[in-house]
Amino acid sequence: MTGKGGFLTLGIETSCDDTAVAVLRNDREVLAEFLSSQVDDHAQFGGVVPEFAARKHLENILPLIDAALGKAGITGQNLALVAVTQGPGLMGSLLVGVETALALSQAWDVPVIGVNHLEGHMFSPLTESSLAPPFLSLIASGGHTEIVKAEAFGEYVMLGTTRDDAAGEAYDKAAKLMGLPYPGGPEIDRLAKEGNPYAFSFPVPLKNTPKVEFSFSGLKTALLWQVKKLKDEGQELPVNDLCASFQHAVTEALTAKVALAVRQTGIKNVAASGGVAANSALRRALSHGQWKAYLPSPFRCTDNAVMIALAGRCAWRRGVRNQIGLAPDPSLELRYL
Ligand code: KG4
Ligand code: ZN
Repeated sequence: MTGKGGFLTLGIETSCDDTAVAVLRNDREVLAEFLSSQVDDHAQFGGVVPEFAARKHLENILPLIDAALGKAGITGQNLALVAVTQGPGLMGSLLVGVETALALSQAWDVPVIGVNHLEGHMFSPLTESSLAPPFLSLIASGGHTEIVKAEAFGEYVMLGTTRDDAAGEAYDKAAKLMGLPYPGGPEIDRLAKEGNPYAFSFPVPLKNTPKVEFSFSGLKTALLWQVKKLKDEGQELPVNDLCASFQHAVTEALTAKVALAVRQTGIKNVAASGGVAANSALRRALSHGQWKAYLPSPFRCTDNAVMIALAGRCAWRRGVRNQIGLAPDPSLELRYL
């Protein structure tokens, strides 16, 4: 037992391919945090295989929860709340997390709350800082690219999103067409360090439009043509330069719209989250803008359970309760004002 008291939340995240659990005391004290990544399992298929992911979650989740409670020095009955990702995500994966949370909450007689995965990402910078609304949030992950204005906790305004691919998806597809392993983002980030970002001039999608909006499919096509041209000419691919130039274009596209959102709203606190926020070039660019950047540690940018625990705790504190029985929802939308 901790004997410390406080509000203890168990966070559970299983929306995609990582099984993550965490025990959070009050708002920021992480008593335990465990994550079982399936990256190596899925890499051989070049992407996430949903049925396989669900099966892996099922194998991992209870041992991870046991380990987290053990590390925190508590039992399930000590918890004040179980917070679980309800959606969006893969149905089979979400089902494992939600059903486990419901069963344990019944067994322990502890309330359970469903958390929107995107709201979770918005909360990840808050797990390491005292940032409070109003703030702007750039969420850039494998499935989403959007800038959201948080007017208050639970009160969000969508300023703009992508017209086609998400930024992380663009990284993953770009990596694939250069013959690099999945997931592409970390690999491109690594190789770009040895490359010249100005070696190739890729289009920066929608950079100068007066709207907060993104598009990455044209950029991916430009890379595809460049790779094809180089191959047709019999050249060895200058992978480092291609990575650095591609990363430069994505970073410019994201940063330009953050700057626009800051100008449009007058809000100068900017949080970033989602896997792409772990990107070193984006972190550098966001740190040098006309705003104050709140960047979580790279391991808190990607999917994790601390962000779910904190988002759940804050929702609970402002009186959110699950209306009817909690059920996974693969296309759950964040409610906007
Ligand atoms: O947030 P996340 O872990 O899962 C989703 O909710 O999608 O984001 C995963 C995405 C993948 O597309 C991955 O390639 C990308 O984030 N990513 C990166 C980096 N680390 C992860 N993209 C660019 N640079 C990185 N360092
Ligand atoms: Zn995510």
